[in-house]
Amino acid sequence: MLKPAFTFGVATASFQIEGARDSRLACIWDTFCKQPNAIADQSDGDIACDHINLWQQDVEMIADLAVDAYRLSISWPRALNQDGTVNQQGLGFYRDLLTALKARNIKTYVTLYHWDLPQYLEDQGGWQNRDTAYAFAAYADIVSKELAGLVDSYATLNEPFCSAYLGYEIGVHAPGIKSQKAGRQAAHHLLLGHGLAMQALRKNCPDTEAGIVLNFSPTYPLTADDKLAAFQADQYHNQWYIKAIIDGQYPSLLNELPEHVQPDIQPQDMVIISQPIDYLGVNYYTRIHYKCTADNWFEEANLTNVPITDMGWEVYPQGLTELLVSLNELYTLPKIYITENGAAMADSVHDNQVLDYDRVSYYHTHLNAVNDAINQGVNVQGYFAWSLMDNFEWAYGYEKRFGLVYINYQTQQRILKESAKQYCALLKQR
Ligand code: FCB
Repeated sequence: MLKPAFTFGVATASFQIEGARDSRLACIWDTFCKQPNAIADQSDGDIACDHINLWQQDVEMIADLAVDAYRLSISWPRALNQDGTVNQQGLGFYRDLLTALKARNIKTYVTLYHWDLPQYLEDQGGWQNRDTAYAFAAYADIVSKELAGLVDSYATLNEPFCSAYLGYEIGVHAPGIKSQKAGRQAAHHLLLGHGLAMQALRKNCPDTEAGIVLNFSPTYPLTADDKLAAFQADQYHNQWYIKAIIDGQYPSLLNELPEHVQPDIQPQDMVIISQPIDYLGVNYYTRIHYKCTADNWFEEANLTNVPITDMGWEVYPQGLTELLVSLNELYTLPKIYITENGAAMADSVHDNQVLDYDRVSYYHTHLNAVNDAINQGVNVQGYFAWSLMDNFEWAYGYEKRFGLVYINYQTQQRILKESAKQYCALLKQR
C-alpha cells in the first residue's frame, strides 16, 4: 500500500506557465517558437498561464488541492543576467514563490533545468559546447546559495533525453538541430552538467536532497522478429541516461555507433556523471512499440485499436509497473519519485465544469500501477501529477491540455476539472 509518508504533488515548468518575456532574457524556446511551423498552433510562451502575475492565486489553488508538494522549475534566463550575476527581480520571483509555498506547508521540489536554455549560450553551441555544462554548474551554484532554506528537493535536469534527442538530434524541440552527432554530444554534456551541478548542490546544501528527472517510454517489439529493435531503442533512448548516472557507463550500443557520431568523452567525465543521487525522478506517460528497419536499426510502430490520449499516446498503466520493476532489477537504485505522469485529453467546459472522467481514470489506473510496483519491492516514495494546470505543451502549443486545472487563455480563468477534485478528495482521505 502507498505508505503515509508518501509524497503527493503536482508539477509544472517555468517556460510552460510563467509568461512575461520582458523580465527575463531570451531562451531557446523563444527563438524556436518564431520558426515557421515549429509549434502546431504558432504560439509562444510570452503569456502562457501568466503565472508570473497570478502566482499568489496559484499558490492558494495548490494549497486547496491538499497536495504535499509542488514541483516547479527555475528559468535560468530569468534567474541570472548574461554576465552570470543574479537578476534580483527574476530570482526574487522564485524567492517569493517558494516562501509562500513553504508558508502553506507545501514542500518545494525545484528543477534547475526544464529546457529553457539562455539563447546567448545556444549562440555559442548550446549543449553541443562542453562549456555549457560548466555554465550550468555555475548557475546551480549561485541559485542554490541564493535560495538557501527554501528548497526541499532539487532536480538538476528534467528529461535530458528530450533536450538532447528531440532538440539536437531530430530537431522537433528547441533549438531544432537535426544531427545524430549533435544529439549524442548534447546528451553527454547534459549529463556532465548534471554531475557538475550535483557537486555544487552537495557543497552548498548538503542536507537538501538532490537528484535528476529522467523520462522513460518502455519499448516493446511489434512482432517476435522485432525484439532486437525494441532492445536497441531501449538502450538508445532510456538506458543511455540512467546507466550513465547509476553505473557510470553508456550502454555497449555506443560502440556500435559509427565513430563520427560518438560523443567526445573526457577522462573522469563518467565519474562526475555517476556520483550518488538521493533519488531518481521517473516520468512516465506511455510505452512505445518498435520494429526493425532494413539497416538493422529501430523505428516506432504505432499500435492501432488501443486506447490513446489526445497526444496519440497509448494508455498503458501496466507499463509503469513493468518499468519500475525492471529498473529495480537492472540497477541499484535510490528512492524513486514519479515526477510526472498524466494525460492530455480534449477537455471542454460546460456550466463552468470540466468533466474529464477519462483523465480521472488515467490517474486511477496509473496510481494503482505505482502501488503494484511498490508491492513488488520498488521503493517509490512520491507521485506528481503532470500537470497542475493546462499549459504550453512545447511543439503542440496550447492545443494539448494536461492540467488538473483548466485554463481559459482568453481570460486566464482557472477552473478545477473533475480530475483535480478527485485527486484532492483522494489526498484528503489519507
Ligand atoms: C514531459 C515534459 C513536460 C510535459 C510532459 C507532457 O516530457 O517534461 O514538460 O510537456 O512531457
